[in-house]
Amino acid sequence: MTQGLFGQVEMNRCSPVPVGRRDYLTYRGNVAVGRHGWLRLTPAYSLALVRELLKDSGPDELVLEPFSGTGTTPLACATLGIRCHAVEINPFLVWLGNLKLTRFDKGTDRALLAAASGIAENARDPDAVEWRPALHQIEKWWDAPTLHALAALCKGIRRQFRKRAPGVSDLLRVAFCRVMIRTANVSFGHQSMSFKKKDDGEEDQLIRETSARCARRVTDAFLAAAREVAESLSVDPPGAEARVLPGDSRHLHSVLPERGYTAVITSPPYPNRMSYIRELRPYMYWLGFLSDGRAAGELDWRAIGGTWGCATSMLNTWTPDGRNGIPFPHFDRIIRDIGKGHALLGRYVHKYFEDIRGHIEGLRSVLAPGARCHYIVGNSKFYDTMLPVEGIYAALFEDAGFANVRVATIRKRTSKKELYEFIVHAHMPHGGKSCHPLFLVP
Ligand SMILES: C[S@@+](CC[C@H](N)C(=O)[O-])C[C@H]1O[C@@H](n2cnc3c(N)ncnc32)[C@H](O)[C@@H]1O
Repeated sequence: MTQGLFGQVEMNRCSPVPVGRRDYLTYRGNVAVGRHGWLRLTPAYSLALVRELLKDSGPDELVLEPFSGTGTTPLACATLGIRCHAVEINPFLVWLGNLKLTRFDKGTDRALLAAASGIAENARDPDAVEWRPALHQIEKWWDAPTLHALAALCKGIRRQFRKRAPGVSDLLRVAFCRVMIRTANVSFGHQSMSFKKKDDGEEDQLIRETSARCARRVTDAFLAAAREVAESLSVDPPGAEARVLPGDSRHLHSVLPERGYTAVITSPPYPNRMSYIRELRPYMYWLGFLSDGRAAGELDWRAIGGTWGCATSMLNTWTPDGRNGIPFPHFDRIIRDIGKGHALLGRYVHKYFEDIRGHIEGLRSVLAPGARCHYIVGNSKFYDTMLPVEGIYAALFEDAGFANVRVATIRKRTSKKELYEFIVHAHMPHGGKSCHPLFLVP
C-alpha cells in the first residue's frame, strides 16, 4: 500500500483497484499553473504528480523524460531546481517544450505586449491576406472572416520574427495558437478532437458579423492571450537546466548527451490509436511544422503508436520480429483475438509493444545503477478484448533485467468501467538484479 497524493492504492499487477477519476492528476491540474497552461495539447499528467514522485530527490538527481509531449516533466523539474533531459519525436513539441524551459530576460513581458499591440493594430486593416495553411478542409475549422483575421495575425507575427528577439516572436506564436484554437469550430472529447455541429442561430450570427467586426474580435482575443502569456512568465520560472532534445526514444543512446540518469518520469503514447499528429495538426500547419498530408503521415509512422494517414498503409506491410516474442503470458493469443475484429489492429498492438520493448531495453545503457522508473500508462479495450497494458509493461521491465517492478492503479480514465491509468515502477539494478533498499518503492 502507498499513501499520498494518489490516495491509498494497492500495489497489484493486472487488475485495476477501483479508484475515481481524479482529474487533478491530469492536464486539468496544470491549466492554471503558468507556462503549463499555455496550450492544451497531448494528454498530459499533472505537475502535482511529478512533484510527488520527486519529493525525496537529492541534489544529484538527473531526470530523463523519454516522451516529453507538452513538457510537464522537464518544466516541473526545472522549477524544482532539478536537472532534466527530455526527448520528443515531434518537432513542434520540441519547440514548445524548450520555449517553456527558457529563462527569459527581464522585460520580455513588456516587449511581448508592445509587439502584440502593433501586430493587432495592423491585423485590423482588412487588406487581403493570401496565405492559408494547407490544412485539409480548412473551411471546416474556421469561417472565412475568422480565417482571414487569423492569417493577418500570422503574417504580422512572421514580420516580427525578423525584427524582434527570438523569445518574443516565439511567445507571440503561443498567444496566436491560443486564439487560433479557441476560435476553431472544434471540441475536445476525452481523447480526441471533433468538429462542432453549428446550430442555425450560430449560422445567422456568422452571416451578420462583418469582416471588420470579426477582425476586431480575433485581434482583441489575441491581445488578451498575449497578456495571459506575459503574466505566466513570472509564475514558477525554471531554475535548473532542462531541455527537450529532438529524437527517437527507441535510440536513447544516440540522442542523449549524458549517461547516469537517476530517475525516469514519463507517459509513453497509449496503444489506443490516438494520433498525436492528427490532434496537433492545426498548430503544426499554422506554425509551419507541417506543409502536407504525406509528411504528417510519415511523422506519425515514426512515432510509437502512430497509425494516421499513410502510417496506416505502412502498418499493413509491417511484420513482427520473429526472433523475439513479447514476454507476457498469452500475448500471442491476445493479439490474435484483437486481430479477429480487425487484422490491422492486431498488427498495431504488436508493433506498439515491439517498439516499447526496444525503448525499455535501451534504457539500460543510459540509466544510473538504482535509477527509479515511473511509467504512467493506460489500458485499452479492442472490441471485447482487454489489453492489460500495465501488466505487459511490467513484464517487459522484468525481462530487460529491471528489479522491484510494481504496478499501482492511479485513476479511472473514462466512463468505461474497465479503463484505468496506472504507474509502473521499476528500478535499474545495481550491477546484478537486486536493488538497493533506498530505491525500493514504499
Ligand atoms: C502521452 S504523450 C506524453 C505526455 C507528457 N508526459 C506530458 O505530460 O505532456 C506521448 C508523447 O510521446 C511522443 N513520442 C511518440 N513516439 C516517440 C518516440 N519514438 N520517441 C520520442 N517521443 C515519441 C509523442 O509525440 C507524444 O508527444
